[in-house]
Amino acid sequence: MSESPQQVIVIGGTGGLGRAMVETLLDQFKQVQVYATYCSTEIPFRHARLSWQQLDIRDPDAIEKWAAEFNRVDWILNFAGFLHGEKGGPEKNIQALNTDFLIENIRINTLPTLLMAKHFARALKQSPAPVMATVSARVGSIEDNRLGGWYSYRISKAALNMALKTLSIEWKHSHPRGCIAALHPGTNDTPLSKPFQANVKSGNLFDPAYTASMFLKLLTQLDPSKSGNFWAWDGELIPW
Ligand SMILES: NC(=O)c1ccc[n+]([C@@H]2O[C@H](COP(=O)([O-])OP(=O)(O)OC[C@H]3O[C@@H](n4cnc5c(N)ncnc54)[C@H](OP(=O)(O)O)[C@@H]3O)[C@@H](O)[C@H]2O)c1
Repeated sequence: MSESPQQVIVIGGTGGLGRAMVETLLDQFKQVQVYATYCSTEIPFRHARLSWQQLDIRDPDAIEKWAAEFNRVDWILNFAGFLHGEKGGPEKNIQALNTDFLIENIRINTLPTLLMAKHFARALKQSPAPVMATVSARVGSIEDNRLGGWYSYRISKAALNMALKTLSIEWKHSHPRGCIAALHPGTNDTPLSKPFQANVKSGNLFDPAYTASMFLKLLTQLDPSKSGNFWAWDGELIPW
């Protein structure tokens, strides 16, 4: 896309990857205004071109209310996500399936992107080149599923992928200047991946700052002809 974005929303700006994305945006785009969200973590840092909004993305009314404050938004980047917490962790097998845990995965990993698309549709229409990108995960690819397990997380990311693909089809008509993207960050050293890093080969565990810079390179190359794809951090296309 030719123009630098002026107004960018980063959902999950307190996370390992989200915070790195906020810092990279502020560093690379000297005119950008970033609106980042936090939920349970305290605001990590302040900057003249950065506003923080407390938002629990499981709350549809809160998303709708916040969206009403914007006239124009250029990019919405959703970096919030859930893999393990008080409600449990990824299932090794079907006997570990727990309804509450599955629903929590859907509420954090799947639904918010749809709610953001619904409530920010008007503000995104005001942009000359709107982008909606959500961080998914390769394990959400149905074609790429070789190992099994992790039912709830895989299901929530596969459903997210379908949501993004479907939005990209609607956007051809509703937001013809725009682009929708699903992103895979590789394995990054963040609280989300911490319990699962033991088997990751050295060199395959990325610094979130590296991934954020790769994502920014990718995002600046998007245009409507590339909408509705699932991209890895390095620009590789991942099968749905
Ligand atoms: N790290 C990896 O290796 C890896 C690999 C593949 C995919 N991903 C995906 O990348 C994305 C970012 O992951 P990460 O590694 O940066 O995770 P992280 O460090 O654990 O950060 C998670 C972020 O999500 C936010 N969040 C969680 N629940 C929320 C809620 N209910 N409302 C609002 N915000 C909420 C957190 O906000 P607060 O802390 O303020 O509550 C935090 O900003 C996720 O979608 C994840 O699935 C990560």
